[in-house]
Amino acid sequence: MVPATAPTEYAGHVIRFVRRAEILPSPNIWYHPDAYELENHAQDVGGELWRTLRAEVDWAGKDVVDVGCGDGFHLPLFAETARSVVGVEPHPPLVRRARRRVNEITGVNVKQGAAQRLPLASASVDLVHARTAYFFGRGCEPGLNEADRVLRKGGALAIVDLDVRHQPYGDWMRADLPDYDPADVDRFFAEQGFRCLRVETIWRFENLAAAESALRIEFSPSVAERAIGEVVRRNGAGPARPLTVPVGYRVLVREKPSGLVRLTRPAHSAGPDSSISPRIP
Ligand SMILES: C[S@@+](CC[C@H](N)C(=O)[O-])C[C@H]1O[C@@H](n2cnc3c(N)ncnc32)[C@H](O)[C@@H]1O
Repeated sequence: MVPATAPTEYAGHVIRFVRRAEILPSPNIWYHPDAYELENHAQDVGGELWRTLRAEVDWAGKDVVDVGCGDGFHLPLFAETARSVVGVEPHPPLVRRARRRVNEITGVNVKQGAAQRLPLASASVDLVHARTAYFFGRGCEPGLNEADRVLRKGGALAIVDLDVRHQPYGDWMRADLPDYDPADVDRFFAEQGFRCLRVETIWRFENLAAAESALRIEFSPSVAERAIGEVVRRNGAGPARPLTVPVGYRVLVREKPSGLVRLTRPAHSAGPDSSISPRIP
């Protein structure tokens, strides 16, 4: 039998458990939440990811769930226009941090749970969003099915993940993940009916110390040193100057069919592997 961790509330009454085996370790945010917070602030400073998400799956007036929400960094932004927002996170310390973050924001809740068994009623949300969490490729089918269960007809699942084909960040990732096969991951999501938008963003760190702390929680020590060296060379920076790094993402989107009417795709989404960023070939 799979050992259980902490109880989680379901539908206000039923106590369920998040199984350890369902949880993918995230050493970066689990063990270094303050450095991860700095990294989240550095990410996507131009707002490219949010623009892409809004163009694809606007959540204004809708019910949103952020799966694997970590410490809830993205919940307030969804809450600016959504009708309701639920963050779902399996790691109890992060559930507590996320709750503290959204404590005073109306319409936002954080629940302990996992992508494979969301603590939500069927057909109760319009957007399931997951950013660099759980949906990494083959093996995430239980979470895909679960997202379909909680989505209303016409709702959408949007998965945001790093693009390992994009340099330099992707090269550093691949140095630590030599068996990762980006073509296979792309094939998997295309087979599952997702369209893929490639988005180039800029990470901007206030100073060298902030860049170092983020890169050290993302990579092995030797790859982190290489990455820090490359970032310094690219920026020609002294210790107190801001540093930027271009980082590519994939935004994967799949709508749940809404009965007989087939949703038309936004005009700029040309196909399962299209790019909206003019800067990426
Ligand atoms: C890299 S963090 C990203 C957190 C957040 N989405 C963000 O962008 O700030 C990945 C998160 O996924 C969570 N996670 C791990 N296994 C999961 C699962 N089976 N279902 C949902 N979330 C999971 C981890 O606990 C962690 O908080």
